[in-house]
Amino acid sequence: MKRMIYDGDPGIDDALAIILAIKSGEFDLEAVTTVAGNVSLEKATKNALRILRLTGRLNIPVAAGIPSPFGRGLERAEYVHGDNGLGGTSLPLPGVEDKCIGALDLIIAKIMKKPGEITLVACGPLTNLAEIYMKEPRIGENVRELIIMGGAVQVPGNVTPHAEFNIYTDPESAQIILRSDLPLTIVPLDVTMKTIFTVYDLEQIYEVRTPVAEFAYNALRYYQNIPKHKKLGGCPLHDPLAVGVAIDESFVKTKELYVNVVTDNIITLGKTLVGEKNTGELEVCASKHKVCLEVDARRFIRFFIDTITAD
Ligand code: RIB
Ligand code: CA
Repeated sequence: MKRMIYDGDPGIDDALAIILAIKSGEFDLEAVTTVAGNVSLEKATKNALRILRLTGRLNIPVAAGIPSPFGRGLERAEYVHGDNGLGGTSLPLPGVEDKCIGALDLIIAKIMKKPGEITLVACGPLTNLAEIYMKEPRIGENVRELIIMGGAVQVPGNVTPHAEFNIYTDPESAQIILRSDLPLTIVPLDVTMKTIFTVYDLEQIYEVRTPVAEFAYNALRYYQNIPKHKKLGGCPLHDPLAVGVAIDESFVKTKELYVNVVTDNIITLGKTLVGEKNTGELEVCASKHKVCLEVDARRFIRFFIDTITAD
């Protein structure tokens, strides 16, 4: 069984990504760690606990990470995910609390204990990951793979015309990770914005009467109906696709590129820069990373629906 740690900021699409990881049966989900992003760290952590209770997996440890981006204020996204971060759905909190051990020490301990076995999927700002990498640089040779949802390569950003939310929220932490020699796969808006979950897809979830499918239906209906998604005719499955890539990389086609991020220009802050040679703004990059540029979107959405609605 492959092993995964999910680090994110639940958030509707994070919640669906965690459910996908669990219900796929492809991974032993070793831990869910949280970071401030879509909502505050406290809300994100409570939402992670709610999702693990919903899926009957409270045996999976939840640990909170860092409460604010590196050297910046937190610009949250309740305008996308709702005030409670889960589209107004009301999932009960379990009696248990998140672990007293912080996310950073939990992730380091688990990866170093099982070298080469754990895939770390990061779908929020990269604040936790940057701290982990600085605290324990050997993570790079012990993690099996690091998959991040973030960035916008050949498409516009979703929080400014240049920048994607996870990278924009903490560009300094993103720069530490993107410049590193970590074994990174990047799942940017270039592919996630093609995985548009439509009202017709939603009807296929409506017919299924399980607690998980009902949560997914209500959260996706909220997510589809925010103004910027209504214009798209559906909602992008950003974080579920990152988990999908961990499950089956054939959903995407990747290209090896050097990647950096703008941190010193107020207009293009958080813009991801890519290139085939580490020259100019890319000369500080230690290694190329796999960047997803094409996706078999309908096959992934079919997989997502079938997995979420399975008994
Ligand atoms: O830009 C989309 C990403 O930002 C997703 O991970 C979403 O959950 C938010 O974190
Ligand atoms: Ca997220």
